[in-house]
Amino acid sequence: MPGASPYERDPKFEDTLRPGSFDEFIGQKKAVQNLQIAIKAARKRKEALDHVLFSGLPGLGKTTLARLIAFEMKGQLHTTMGPILKRPGDLVGTLTKLEDGDVLFIDECHRMLADVEEFLYTAMEDFQISINMETGMAGRTITLPLKRFTLVGATTREGLLSEPFRARFGILEKLEWYPSPDLVRILTRSARILKTEIDEESAHLLADRARGTPRVANRYLRRVRDVAEVKSAKKITRAIALEALEMIGVDGRRARRDGPQDPPGADQARGSGRAQDAVGRRRRRGRHDRRGLRAVPDPEPLPGADVPRAQSDRESREASRNGTRAGRATATVLGTESSMKN
Ligand SMILES: Nc1ncnc2c1ncn2[C@@H]1O[C@H](COP(=O)(O)OP(=O)(O)OP(=O)(O)O)[C@@H](O)[C@H]1O
Ligand SMILES: [Mg+2]
Repeated sequence: MPGASPYERDPKFEDTLRPGSFDEFIGQKKAVQNLQIAIKAARKRKEALDHVLFSGLPGLGKTTLARLIAFEMKGQLHTTMGPILKRPGDLVGTLTKLEDGDVLFIDECHRMLADVEEFLYTAMEDFQISINMETGMAGRTITLPLKRFTLVGATTREGLLSEPFRARFGILEKLEWYPSPDLVRILTRSARILKTEIDEESAHLLADRARGTPRVANRYLRRVRDVAEVKSAKKITRAIALEALEMIGVDGRRARRDGPQDPPGADQARGSGRAQDAVGRRRRRGRHDRRGLRAVPDPEPLPGADVPRAQSDRESREASRNGTRAGRATATVLGTESSMKN
């Protein structure tokens, strides 16, 4: 499949290779160590883990770590994504279903609308939410207590998160590119799961071209395995690996010269507190209306993207009529809750 982005997600294939425990999770030593200590301490105190924010480029393991947290905390994982939450009410059903120690995983949390984000403030801080039962003169607000859950947020664009939201996470981990030896270990493990044999030289070859990213390494392995199978080769050798990489258009010279390659949009995604984040924040502020609403653009706006974006802004303005105040947002129950239990 020449031309396809090596960063593209393939959920079914990725789940096959996803580490099921911290022992199987390779690399990211600092993040893993910090998480393991925090999890151990929380379990000892019989408390929920602090809210966790993972930032880092696509394919580095954010979703995998969110799942591992739920597994280690022996809680249920509930998954949703920032862009599908259209109003605070969309979260009420899920939040009220959470049990002690459950994990609410919000992927792409930088793409949440501001009033959805603000609605989460009291949920994260005080474990309670306020709901408008009716609108108009007869309107009344009730406060619902929540169980002690852990919110795990994942973002490829940490610089776009608002400071009040970011400040509500107790644990912030930034995932880094993987050095080649870690990718060799990941490839060797993946080959074992896929029941294919790869020699060391070929594993190094793929690792060197995998742009520091496990998702890319696994994707190349899959293609190389196809070539080996077609050739009825028992093992992936250097010759087969080279042939497959050429077929999928991976330029070895460039990969070796430049090291890890940025995925599309990475220039806007990298790290917090840097120039690109400042650009992102300015852009986001530019798209706030006076009530602080926002709709965050996709990393790579497509031609004509103004049309859906304008709609999204309109939607967000409508949602704001529910009466959002910074840090004290309420949800009006509109009967549109989405259940996101996995
Ligand atoms: N440390 C690791 N060890 C082994 N496999 C890994 C590791 N990190 C990621 N992977 C594998 O790489 C693939 C992508 O990982 P994951 O889905 O967790 O990335 P992500 O950071 O959530 O990406 P995105 O930003 O696109 O959502 C999965 O198949 C996962 O199993
Ligand atoms: Mg993910």
